[in-house]
Amino acid sequence: MRIAVFASGNGSNFQAIAEAIASGEVDATIAFLFCDKPKAYAIERAKQYNIPVISFTPKGFEDRVAYENEILKHLAEEKVDLVVLAGYMRIVGPTLLSAYADRIVNIHPSLLPDFPGRHGIQDAFEAGVPETGVTVHFVDEGVDTGPIIAQEKVAILPEDTLETLETRIHQVEHRIFPQVIQQLAQKNKG
Ligand code: GRF
Repeated sequence: MRIAVFASGNGSNFQAIAEAIASGEVDATIAFLFCDKPKAYAIERAKQYNIPVISFTPKGFEDRVAYENEILKHLAEEKVDLVVLAGYMRIVGPTLLSAYADRIVNIHPSLLPDFPGRHGIQDAFEAGVPETGVTVHFVDEGVDTGPIIAQEKVAILPEDTLETLETRIHQVEHRIFPQVIQQLAQKNKG
C-alpha cells in the first residue's frame, strides 16, 4: 500500500509511521510527505528518512479547489492508496474527499466525539474529566468527525500537568496510528 502523510507542524506522528515502516511493522511505503507549511519541522524529519517532500501553501492558488487539485495530481502520479492526516491543520475539501472517499484517515488527541478541534488535549484537561484518549477515524466533511476506526483511553491523573498528559497521549498516538495503518494495509492487500 502506498500512503501519503499530510502534516503541518512537528511531525512526530509522521516519524512514528516512518519508523514502523522501516522496522517492518507496517507493510506500506510513504510515497511522500505533503506539507502545507514550508517551514514545518516535519520536513526535516522527512529528510532524515529520505522520504520525498511536496510542500506548498494554498496561498498561491485561486481557491481551495485549485489547491486540492494540485495535491490530487501528486497523489495520482504517485499512485497513493491512502492519505494519512498526521497533524494536518486544514479542513479537507470536497475535491480531495470525493477523489479519496473512505481513503483518508486522521488522528485526533481525544476520545471523539468529545473535544474535537485544535486543542483536544487542553480542552479535556481543563474540563476536568477523568480520562481522555486518542482516536483514529476516517475523514468526512466535518471537523474531527467521520467513522471511528480505533480509540484508546488515557487516564488523566491527579498529578498530571498539561505537559505530562500531552506526553502520554503522544506516546499512545505513536503506537496506535501505525497499528491502524497496518490494519488498512492488510485490507488493501486482500
Ligand atoms: C497530534 O496530537 C495529532 O493528534 C493532532 O495533531 C498533533 C500532531 O502532532 N491531529 P505531530 O505533528 O504528529 O507531532
